[in-house]
Amino acid sequence: MEDVSEREFLKILYANPVYHRCLLLLELSRIPKGREALDAIYYVVRDSCVIDVILRKGTFGVKSTRRGNHPFTSQEVASYAGAAVIDGCRLRRGFRPLVDLDDPQVQVVADVCGQFFFLGIELVGERCMHRRGWRVYEHPASLKSTIANALLMLAGFGSGESLWDPMCGGGTIPIEAAHRCMGLPPAYFRKRDFAFLRAGLFSERLWEEVTCGVDAEIRWDANFRIFASDASFRHLEGALRNAENALIKDKILFEVATVSCFSKKDEVDVVVTNPPYGIRMGGPKKARKALEELMQTFLVSSARVLVVIHPFPDMVKEIAQKLGIKLDKEVRSYNGNLEVSLLRFGKGG
Ligand SMILES: C[S@@+](CC[C@H](N)C(=O)[O-])C[C@H]1O[C@@H](n2cnc3c(N)ncnc32)[C@H](O)[C@@H]1O
Repeated sequence: MEDVSEREFLKILYANPVYHRCLLLLELSRIPKGREALDAIYYVVRDSCVIDVILRKGTFGVKSTRRGNHPFTSQEVASYAGAAVIDGCRLRRGFRPLVDLDDPQVQVVADVCGQFFFLGIELVGERCMHRRGWRVYEHPASLKSTIANALLMLAGFGSGESLWDPMCGGGTIPIEAAHRCMGLPPAYFRKRDFAFLRAGLFSERLWEEVTCGVDAEIRWDANFRIFASDASFRHLEGALRNAENALIKDKILFEVATVSCFSKKDEVDVVVTNPPYGIRMGGPKKARKALEELMQTFLVSSARVLVVIHPFPDMVKEIAQKLGIKLDKEVRSYNGNLEVSLLRFGKGG
């Protein structure tokens, strides 16, 4: 990793739009194959600098996830690592730290992946970064804000261009796009909601300086054209409430419309959307119909690029091919446990 200053690092934590969580990695080591791995983990933790960050009068907890085949469980890893923290603090710092597994001040992470052990401190916390703090209306199939940003980046959406999300649901994509245009940092509404602040890992004053510095650059009067529409009145109303809470209600043009009936198709440059997958809502037939309508409308619109996210990329590509729409790029990713593709299309020939 590039060597960055503490200030720059905090700026990334505050303003980077595409990360979910962040771990301060303190140790990465290879572990033996059998149960003796647990002893190895104990010694790595006990002798690590995790001991130096445990607060004398504060609490700590260890959580662990394990990937791969091992003759031990993640609970055992957590319990060996927890015992090591207690022994390390006693031996090296002369006190017995308090354990709180539900809401610790310092959350130690002890993960095992294959033959590797990762030891670190949680910097973001239980509420991952896709929880921006502006959402008051929860669409039943809402997209993570972080993924919305990845879609906007894939579309190459920049200021000066007009954007349309024709299936906006609760408005995640247009709201994130508006914040990008204004330079409003993703953590603007959750400044205090970071695990590292509770753990006392960085100076509160420096964090204050960094966040104020970034906030001073917000372009509140930025001009941009972002359109958001959805066939459902209820969802659009929810999107409006979200936009209001995100301080950009008057900056997005909302319309209740099916994709093909939207009134400003001739004014858009970039279309970015998250169509129904037919998994949680509707069914596969409806999902296919919605995609066909989307692609046909893209063809007759003024847009140069279309970006969609979908768990069934073959179906999306097949529809596009039939209509002569050209696939430019496909990126595979995960939305939770669901494997999805982020697909960028342009108008062929
Ligand atoms: C997966 S959801 C979008 C969720 C949204 N990205 C969010 O974060 O809240 C898909 C949306 O497409 C809308 N929809 C489905 N078919 C449509 C159509 N033919 N025209 C317009 N909207 C449609 C649904 O009402 C639903 O809100």
